[in-house]
Amino acid sequence: MEQMKLILLPLFCMCFHAHCAGSAYPHKSTCTTENDKADCSHMNLDVVPTNLPKNITTLDVSHNRLKNLSSLLLYSNLVNVDASYNSLTAIEKDLCLSLPHLQILNVQHNEVYLMSEKDLKNCCYLTQLDLSYNRLKLQGEPFSVLKSLTWLDVSKNKLKSAKLGIQAQLPNLVTLVLSGNEISVLQKNDFSFLSNSSAFRVLILSSLPLKKVENGCFQAIASRLSDLVLDQSKLTPQFTSNLCEELAGTALRNLSLKNTLQVTLLNTTFQGLDKTNITVLDLSYNTMSKIAEGAFQWFSRLTFLSLEHNSFRHLTKDTFSGLRNLRQLNLRKALIKSHSSSLPIIEDFSFHHLVQLEHLCMENTAFRGITEHIFSGLLHLKTLDLSWSITGLKTVTNITFASLQESPLLETLNLTAMGINRLGPGAFSILGNLTTLLLGRNFINQQLKGVELEGLTSIKEIDMSINQQSISLTNTSFIHVPWLRILKLGRALKGTLDMEPSPFRPLVNLTVLDLSNNNIANINDGMLKGLHHLKVLKMQHNNLARLWKTANPGGPVFFLKDATKLTFLALDYNGLDEIPLDALRGFSELRELSLRGNLLDQLHASVFNDLQSLKYLHLQKNLITSVQRAIFGVPLSNLTELYMDHNPFDCTCESILWFSEWLNSTNASVPGFPQSYICNTPNAYFNRSVMKFDPLSCKDMTPFKALYILSSTAVLMLLFTAFLVHFQGWRIQFFWSIMVNRMLGSMKDESVTEGRYAYDAYIIHTAKDRPWVERSLLPLEDEKFTFFLEDRDATPGFSQLDTIIDNMGQSRKIIFVITEMLLKDPWCRQFKAHHALHQVMEDNRDSLILIFLQDVTDYNLNRSLHLRRGMLKPCCVLYWPLHRERIPAFHQKLRSALASTNKVN
Ligand SMILES: *[C@@H]1O[C@H](CO)[C@@H](O)[C@H](O)[C@H]1NC(C)=O
Ligand SMILES: *[C@@H]1O[C@H](CO)[C@@H](O)[C@H](O)[C@H]1NC(C)=O
Ligand SMILES: *[C@@H]1O[C@H](CO)[C@@H](O)[C@H](O)[C@H]1NC(C)=O
Ligand SMILES: *[C@@H]1O[C@H](CO)[C@@H](O)[C@H](O)[C@H]1NC(C)=O
Ligand SMILES: *[C@@H]1O[C@H](CO)[C@@H](O)[C@H](O)[C@H]1NC(C)=O
Ligand SMILES: *[C@@H]1O[C@H](CO)[C@@H](O)[C@H](O)[C@H]1NC(C)=O
Ligand SMILES: *[C@@H]1O[C@H](CO)[C@@H](O)[C@H](O)[C@H]1NC(C)=O
Ligand SMILES: *[C@@H]1O[C@H](CO)[C@@H](O)[C@H](O)[C@H]1NC(C)=O
Repeated sequence: MEQMKLILLPLFCMCFHAHCAGSAYPHKSTCTTENDKADCSHMNLDVVPTNLPKNITTLDVSHNRLKNLSSLLLYSNLVNVDASYNSLTAIEKDLCLSLPHLQILNVQHNEVYLMSEKDLKNCCYLTQLDLSYNRLKLQGEPFSVLKSLTWLDVSKNKLKSAKLGIQAQLPNLVTLVLSGNEISVLQKNDFSFLSNSSAFRVLILSSLPLKKVENGCFQAIASRLSDLVLDQSKLTPQFTSNLCEELAGTALRNLSLKNTLQVTLLNTTFQGLDKTNITVLDLSYNTMSKIAEGAFQWFSRLTFLSLEHNSFRHLTKDTFSGLRNLRQLNLRKALIKSHSSSLPIIEDFSFHHLVQLEHLCMENTAFRGITEHIFSGLLHLKTLDLSWSITGLKTVTNITFASLQESPLLETLNLTAMGINRLGPGAFSILGNLTTLLLGRNFINQQLKGVELEGLTSIKEIDMSINQQSISLTNTSFIHVPWLRILKLGRALKGTLDMEPSPFRPLVNLTVLDLSNNNIANINDGMLKGLHHLKVLKMQHNNLARLWKTANPGGPVFFLKDATKLTFLALDYNGLDEIPLDALRGFSELRELSLRGNLLDQLHASVFNDLQSLKYLHLQKNLITSVQRAIFGVPLSNLTELYMDHNPFDCTCESILWFSEWLNSTNASVPGFPQSYICNTPNAYFNRSVMKFDPLSCKDMTPFKALYILSSTAVLMLLFTAFLVHFQGWRIQFFWSIMVNRMLGSMKDESVTEGRYAYDAYIIHTAKDRPWVERSLLPLEDEKFTFFLEDRDATPGFSQLDTIIDNMGQSRKIIFVITEMLLKDPWCRQFKAHHALHQVMEDNRDSLILIFLQDVTDYNLNRSLHLRRGMLKPCCVLYWPLHRERIPAFHQKLRSALASTNKVN
């Protein structure tokens, strides 16, 4: 994550600055230092910062607004200073006095104007000085002090002359760059200041408006001038020929006249070069349409000639006369077909002077045709590149390349993209030493019977890729080339490969086979039979899914059986959704396995177990959900690079834990990680990076889980109990005691318990309800019931407490006459009710009768008397009716309540 920030921060700043400042390049706000290097470029600085480490040796202060380098003097260890793209008007006085180790000074793109010896005094260690793109005006001999300088660039300074001094100086100079100045004449003693520069070699005079070259101008450096570059100048034929005269007798080896607007070469143009040992001539990017015969007669030692990008119309048998030592000829785009004109002509025997030529490149040339003797005389030709050339060649017959009969050494024939549509029998039969035949990107449309390749007795590589999928193979296709090592048939094949024996059966030494992009669906397990040396097999973009399915009739087809020496196997984009358990058995040398873009998900454990040497594994864009040790342990053990991005990973402990730990600890590079490794499931990780998966969440899960379940259950139960007790506690308590009492009570004889009472009921009421009791209850005493009324029956002298306790015990029932008043009576509320309840529980009696004179809520009832209607039998809860006529019914109910048994049932 820290690293990410470090990478992203500058990016962000870049965008931010680019946006705000609108400048083409972002500006930094601080210098970066690394080891002994400091980079303060692009900072809008007016002065060199003074707070850098004092011992830095390399400083980049380019692209600022520096007007002077004064604070540079602080850093006396500097060896390399880049002060380009600033506003310096002079080199700092005494610069090298303060920077005695300075070796490389770059002040290009500044405003340096006047320059004298004083400026560079003491710069005796300076080896490279770049003063290009300034406005130099030299005073005296400013460079005479630079004893060690090897490279001096004063290009683009509006200099009028190449003469940088009068006295001999710069004893160690190797390269002088004078390009882009206003030098139109090379004068007689211009380079005399280099007369003592014994190491001098390279003179670059590009982009100059040269008009005239004076006699003797190179005299001072003639014995050392080896490379001369005059690119991008407009040179008249006269100037070129004068220049060559002046170069006569020099040590010139390489001459570059690229893009110099030469139009034609006369047979005398290069005459002066006759007296040199020039070996390399570059005439590319001119618009030459004509070369006079004999133009190159002066180049007997030339080994490399480039005529690339010209527009010649006609090469004759003497165009290249004299080039008897040429090894390499570059004719890439040297002959072109314009819309209006016909194809240029290359006459028979055009190359016959080039007896030493080894490499002929005619890529992208256009010429009328490959005639009978066109390449005759190329006795040492090794490589012929005709790729993309326009020749009207359609069928290659046994005479097409007859002219190469005299080129026994030909090894490589590049016929890529030539519009070939047919190979005749023995088409290459005279090329017995050919090792590489490139026929890709053509339109070859035929069945290869074998005779087409007859006579290729040394062939190692045949490339027929990209041939419109219109070549079909037979068992004999390669029967004449059993020594083949490399066979490329990508996007080339039609028809079936499901034949016995396989077309590849003769190729016992084949090491590379490319069958990609062919829609191959039907092959048998003998396709690679006998190919024990196969190292590279490319079968991507085919249709092999069925072959590896368990459900395939006859079982999976093990078509890789004999190819166990493979080091590279590509089966990308084949629709594979299964890999049979033994499909990759024995592939212990496989280094790279590519299975991109298939439908692989569930793989057999151990399917990759023999791949101990695997270094690169590509499994991106499959349906892989889990990456487990059982499957990937071996192949991932010593990997260099893994590509498994864009799979729908299941980020659970079971599926991904091992992989996530592997990713965090591996030394292998995993391009695209983490941003392209995204979880698909479970929901918690959906669309998040696999990197976010927390391995700690899986550690020692079992005890924690158990503890969790245990504690949460306990809490829940506690809660439940608390709620139950709170809302229904009374009921539990009540039924509990009743149950206990029933058990105890059942041991007693009921008749005994029933007979021991003195009263039928103990009546509890408030004083205010006394009249109601007398009026409505006492009349029942006339019918065999006896009631106990405190204020009537209590024995005088007894305490109220004792009265209650004794007499409640003596009463079979206890009647509460309930009014709001009763509920407020403290005695009643606290003691009598408690006692009554106590008795109810103790005696296992259903002995309470409630008579409601007023409507009282259950809540109030409970709060005051700890009673609820639900505790009692319905028949023991009575309501005093408001209607007179219902009073007899009330009495009847009361009678039956009084008569009801006290046993709970
Ligand atoms: C430069 O000096 C710093 C301390 O100022 C030191 O840590 C560093 O190692 C030195 N670097 C070199 C290359 O001498
Ligand atoms: C150049 O060509 C002309 C004819 O085009 C010929 O007369 C002359 O001798 C040639 N010169 C050389 C040096 O080959
Ligand atoms: C060219 O090479 C030969 C032999 O290598 C040498 O004698 C001759 O001096 C060289 N010519 C020039 C101009 O350097
Ligand atoms: C080319 O093939 C023809 C028959 O197709 C044969 O008569 C002729 O001899 C062959 N030429 C060479 C040079 O092999
Ligand atoms: C053959 O030509 C093709 C197309 O120009 C080029 O890419 C390839 O490098 C060439 N191969 C050789 C061996 O010259
Ligand atoms: C192959 O090259 C050798 C020389 O290396 C030569 O002797 C032989 O004749 C050539 N074979 C063919 C068929 O050109
Ligand atoms: C295959 O290679 C071996 C060893 O390099 C060689 O002995 C054998 O002749 C080759 N076979 C063919 C048909 O080229
Ligand atoms: C892993 O690969 C390296 C080379 O990349 C090899 O030296 C090393 O022996 C291999 N280790 C194992 C355990 O295969």
